[in-house]
Amino acid sequence: MGNRKTMPAAFIKIKGHQCHLKKAILGMVFSLCSKYKIRKGNGRAESHFCSAITVYIMCGIIGYTGNSCASPKITKGLSVLEYRGYDSVGIAAANENEISIIKCKGRITSLEEKLSDSLLQESHTAIGHTRWATHGGPSDTNAHPHRVGDVVLVHNGIIENYMEIKKELTESGVKFSSETDTEVAAAWINRCYCNLKDPIPAIREACSRFTGSYAFAIMFENLKGEIYAIRRGSPLILAEGKDGYYLASDITALLPFTPKYHILDENSIACLKSNEIKIFSDSKDACIPEWKITSITPEAAQKGGFSHFMLKEIHEQPEAILKSVSPRIINGLPDFSGDGIHGDFWKKIKNIQIVACGSATHAGLAGGYFLEKLAKIPTSSYIASEYRYTPPIATDGTLVILISQSGETADTLAALRYAKAHNIPTLAIVNAVETTIAREADYKIYTYAGPEIAVATTKGYCTQVSVLYMIAVAIAHQKGDISDQTAKELVENISQGAPKAISHILSQRNILTEIAKKLYRHEHVFYIGRGIDFHICAEASLKLKEISYIHSEAYAAGELKHGTISLIENDTPVIAIVTENRLYEKTESNLREVKSRGADVILICRDDISSDNHSTDSVLTIPSTSDVASVFAAIAAVQIIAFDAALLRNCDIDRPRNLAKSVTVE
Ligand code: F6R
Repeated sequence: MGNRKTMPAAFIKIKGHQCHLKKAILGMVFSLCSKYKIRKGNGRAESHFCSAITVYIMCGIIGYTGNSCASPKITKGLSVLEYRGYDSVGIAAANENEISIIKCKGRITSLEEKLSDSLLQESHTAIGHTRWATHGGPSDTNAHPHRVGDVVLVHNGIIENYMEIKKELTESGVKFSSETDTEVAAAWINRCYCNLKDPIPAIREACSRFTGSYAFAIMFENLKGEIYAIRRGSPLILAEGKDGYYLASDITALLPFTPKYHILDENSIACLKSNEIKIFSDSKDACIPEWKITSITPEAAQKGGFSHFMLKEIHEQPEAILKSVSPRIINGLPDFSGDGIHGDFWKKIKNIQIVACGSATHAGLAGGYFLEKLAKIPTSSYIASEYRYTPPIATDGTLVILISQSGETADTLAALRYAKAHNIPTLAIVNAVETTIAREADYKIYTYAGPEIAVATTKGYCTQVSVLYMIAVAIAHQKGDISDQTAKELVENISQGAPKAISHILSQRNILTEIAKKLYRHEHVFYIGRGIDFHICAEASLKLKEISYIHSEAYAAGELKHGTISLIENDTPVIAIVTENRLYEKTESNLREVKSRGADVILICRDDISSDNHSTDSVLTIPSTSDVASVFAAIAAVQIIAFDAALLRNCDIDRPRNLAKSVTVE
């Protein structure tokens, strides 16, 4: 029997002691469970968890040419890109005589030290790179930039056929010093440049040989003061400042210098000089970029008084939900006409396939729940990397919804292209504006969460769920399944209720910290739930494991006893989420099952549940103003629990090991 104690503010807490879980039995099972499998049943997606996160890969590129000294700009830009994760860093800068390269394994501070007594500081043209190792481990040699002959370049992405090109080049006498695909790309571009003597045709010719994805920033020894850029499948943005021209792989790296940007089209080549910039496409004459002004302020990409970006972003959620939902409310009703999606569009939808990766998949699962419950639309959720291989069955009236915070995730993009190639209508829910997924989908809905810097998504996920909820209400309303009055109430629950419920939970930080204290010394934690709570558990579990490195699994509460319950030992933390009162009794039985096997049971439930039971050691109650408000309160609670557990374990929360912010390779 647990020893519950009543605490103020409707929170009941805690049996204070912790105990380490024995490791032995579990290790084997976890390695078997390293996949998150979503099974299609008659329209409903079901999940089996033990999810291991896909490796995220995305290096960072910044380049500048103009009237000012380049290296402070490059190091500044690189430090803004730090959050994406990297293990080596480098810069190439042109001076009168040559292009010099400084690069090293490690952090930007090491690069700055090397730069401090170098002539590179005076250069006005430079490119820089943060590398997250793929082909070849993290080392000084594998770090970018790479130089071969006249070519010096940095690269994001992966050249998939680099081995065959390397073999050909090696046979003709080219020597390589690194293990990277990037050095091979440099050598191939150099070969084309030696033959053609003109950078634009040389780059075009070279890139026509590459398969895979790339964004290159390239300098040529005899063209000092110039930077060339091309991309396919990896983002690259050009920018105009008062003192010259810039390029970067991420708009946040440009914010300290200028708000004026242009997204380079795939396969177009940009040439940046100190006083002019031109874009060369296959079909048109050279043109100058059409500049846009970003509304993202440099402050939005700073911590704003919080200790971590993740904490800041968790606290931004009430406002972020408002920003994503309110442009889609007219006269209190859901209305996506501002996104170019009108009522008739929703009426034609017969079934939905949601495709995404990681947390965005979890958002899709939660959204699918709303779509089936409110709009009665059969909805299947797919992991993007699996979508093409399932293969998905589309009928007349199928809509594919792609979800992506970054808008650049390679697997999600590949799924989008697959759906388009099969003539299935596509709708992208994306945060980062004008990114590839947003641009290529037939329809797009931006979540307007603002820049998300922490690697672990919070406000990105939260706003994805809120947009899907709004879509569910819109479809239900358009189909005539719910009255105006009900639709208005549901909309108000998300636009007013959810932000308030999140704020309320965030004001209870000390209580959430107490729960984190119960977890942080353990190696294994279980989250269990039913219905939508099972999907929230999936996200809760992913958040915990990715930032605190505590192994965690999410289970459908009723599924535990079919095997996994054998892992429960004395003091194993089991956290149950119950935001649906109708499911409380069933989950409560499952809590008894684990309690009787010694689990330390933590229950997160609505404050209107009369939970007079003896199966829990601690209870965290969340506001019960509406079903959806409770869901968002639970989401915020588990995010803070993960954050605090990671803090207690001294983890690098904003930059968890092995991870970077977006994954632009499959
Ligand atoms: C986890 C996380 C990832 C992303 C996933 C998809 O905290 O952030 O699981 O959700 O990599 O990324 P986007 O949404 O950018 O496509």
